[in-house]
Amino acid sequence: MTDNVTSGNASAHRDHAASTSDRPILVGIMTCSDRGARGERADVSGPTLHNLVVDHLSGQVVQYRVVPDERTPIEATLKEWADEHKLDLILTTGGTGLSPRDVTPDATRAVCDREVPAIAQAMFLESLRITPYAMLTRATAGIRRRTLIVNLPGNPRAVQENFGAIAEVLPHAIDIIRGVDTHAAHAGHSQHQRGGTAKSQPVLETRTVRPASSRDDGPIAKNVGGPPC
Ligand code: MTE
Repeated sequence: MTDNVTSGNASAHRDHAASTSDRPILVGIMTCSDRGARGERADVSGPTLHNLVVDHLSGQVVQYRVVPDERTPIEATLKEWADEHKLDLILTTGGTGLSPRDVTPDATRAVCDREVPAIAQAMFLESLRITPYAMLTRATAGIRRRTLIVNLPGNPRAVQENFGAIAEVLPHAIDIIRGVDTHAAHAGHSQHQRGGTAKSQPVLETRTVRPASSRDDGPIAKNVGGPPC
């Protein structure tokens, strides 16, 4: 296990979603993988998430850990990062599927005070337009104290696709969970409202993590090339 990985500040990156708070978004990334935890497979998804967080959220990744697909270490890590480190956002990758060892959503639900089902639904709906195998994830999202926890699948491409579906909304979600008065913060920025002019509105312009272009016109992608998992 590797802890306390601190990313550089991403202020140089232009394509980031805006948070109304001055405090950087503190992020933990947990990769749930038996083989990764045994050192039999290099973790690609964790670093992928790290780059996405830095590039698109201007977030600081202050915790990183690879854990086996077991509820005890997953729950313990979520509690530690939420309660002791008081992270704003925990992103997990892997262990969301249907195999008996896939327990990340169950562990997440067990430690959350409240679910945020629409975050998982948004990822699912977007993913379903890319691959029908998206329906094989049980990923969830929820809040423990002041920490938002979001499950993503384990495949690095799936990580990008799922993150792309929610990236632009995450900073605002985190502001709300932090207790920021978002209405006051956005006063004078009526472009946030539906129908406003989005020209000078940074949040709406930042949806740059587009899912891969294998999507079909319909709501569910046609299967091409067999299961990716
Ligand atoms: N979502 C997207 N966007 N792209 C994908 O390739 N793979 C699916 C699904 N969600 C996939 C996806 C597959 S094949 C599986 S098995 C489930 O995520 C669960 O993945 P996990 O067990 O690695 O968490």
